[in-house]
Amino acid sequence: MVVTLSIASAILGWYDNNARNLPWRVGPAARKAGVRPDPYRVWLSEIMLQQTTVSTVSAYFERFTARWPNVESLASAPRDDVLAEWAGLGYYARARNLHACAQVIMADHGGSFPRTEAGLRTLPGVGLYTAAAIASIAFDEAATVVDGNIERVMARLHAVEDPLPGAKKRLYAFAAADTPQKRPGDYAQALMDIGATICTPRNPCCDQCPVASACTARTDGIAATLPRKTPKKAKPTRYGICYLAYREDDAILLTTRPDDGLLGGMAELPGTDWSGEAPDPAPPVDGVWRRMGDVQHTFTHFHLLLTVMRADMQLDVRAEKGQWIPVSALENTALPTVMRKAIVCGLGPERLL
Ligand code: ADE
Repeated sequence: MVVTLSIASAILGWYDNNARNLPWRVGPAARKAGVRPDPYRVWLSEIMLQQTTVSTVSAYFERFTARWPNVESLASAPRDDVLAEWAGLGYYARARNLHACAQVIMADHGGSFPRTEAGLRTLPGVGLYTAAAIASIAFDEAATVVDGNIERVMARLHAVEDPLPGAKKRLYAFAAADTPQKRPGDYAQALMDIGATICTPRNPCCDQCPVASACTARTDGIAATLPRKTPKKAKPTRYGICYLAYREDDAILLTTRPDDGLLGGMAELPGTDWSGEAPDPAPPVDGVWRRMGDVQHTFTHFHLLLTVMRADMQLDVRAEKGQWIPVSALENTALPTVMRKAIVCGLGPERLL
């Protein structure tokens, strides 16, 4: 006798035996024993996981939750501490929104997260995907959770050949139709695990997939070619110069970027704007400036080639703006990755931060 399982029950059965053990996760056995996920930890992990891999996030998540174990402690932390702890995860608007969101939860929601997708959507930094993920994982709402991995699984399962991003609505509709009323949180996490470990972008491991027999793209022999994508425009390159003023007491001059916009509120080496053409130098203090090299960094919408200049200064040097920060304190400063690269380039790799 051939027994055909629904897509959801095949996926949940697989999850019961194969769920990844992740620091923010309440696994299927504990879940069945009645353990409920902490919405704070679910929310924090989902914000961290936006655009960042599970392996990078794990260590950050452990440090954050050791330092701020609940939404109340995070809300009352100084914003600069939160940004400094976030440094390296990228997309700093996420960290600013994270802190703002913790404060909104305390001020407007009595310290508890809204329990529905619609309620969660009203929070700073919580978009459609994140609201659905929190609603389903923390509160077992049968919300439709669709991230890039799940889009790929849906495109293959239902052989959707029209390209992304145009196909997003169709993929969402398939995901909604497949989502079960029972154990929706486990189901969402199972799909995430399948997307990350089995239904991978290249060389999917279809022989390990619990829904291989229902997968139309596999039947058609096109699984590895999906999802198709409309070609992206090439990223432009921008150029800039930054100035590392090194004072004899082992301190460097840092300024703070404006709150809004790219890397808002983070510390940086003073420098020129980043634009399409190599800018004219305008050092923040007089001195003998040497070119130390260039660093390259890629942001969402452009590549940056940043020239690093250095001058050595005496203790009585005056700077119009900015603060002298001891090199030993940089570890605890909210420095974006591109600035860490620039400082390492200017100080030498032996002063690795
Ligand atoms: N990717 C995004 N959210 C995730 C989660 N909760 N578990 C595993 N991978 C994820």
